[in-house]
Amino acid sequence: MARREDQTTDDNIILTGFMGTGKSSVGRLLAEHLGYEFVDTDEWIAARCGKAIYDIFRDQGEAAFREMEAALARELGGVKKKVIATGGRLMLDAANAAALSRTGRVFTLWATPEEIMVRVANDTAAVRPLLEGPSIKARIQVLYEKRRAGYARFTPIETSGKTITEVVQLVLNHLADDAT
Ligand code: S3P
Repeated sequence: MARREDQTTDDNIILTGFMGTGKSSVGRLLAEHLGYEFVDTDEWIAARCGKAIYDIFRDQGEAAFREMEAALARELGGVKKKVIATGGRLMLDAANAAALSRTGRVFTLWATPEEIMVRVANDTAAVRPLLEGPSIKARIQVLYEKRRAGYARFTPIETSGKTITEVVQLVLNHLADDAT
């Protein structure tokens, strides 16, 4: 992969997109390439609470989790040189998006609902509370349609059929274009 030697800004790179679009995997590799620190908002929240996202939803409810996301977005509004993989809804909140957009470049990772289904089913590390229960396919489709316009506000990166390395390269290409 071409290394981005011309990285001259301290801007953060923020990744948004639906669950299962690869924000964390892509973010981790991208951070490595840029020599940036990687932050995963779900991981931070889980670490601070001492429990998994699924358990936070179950014990404290979704509203409490969204509050934690908002507090973290405000906090991250003051950091530099980070690649930030955000939970699937964090950047759809106007105040969160404003706080983070100010700090750098935002990309939406896209994947088709069909591919999201497969990825989420294969991701045994994360149990996603919003996709629990029967008819996961229908849940994904409804939520995807509801959120599509929100995700479309940011620079799109198509990930369907691509490897993590290929997706990272697409982001790096955008950053290189910005720099010229
Ligand atoms: C959510 C996405 C999850 C996590 C939580 C809610 C969402 O993160 O923040 O389960 O509302 O889309 P990922 O997008 O990393 O799965």
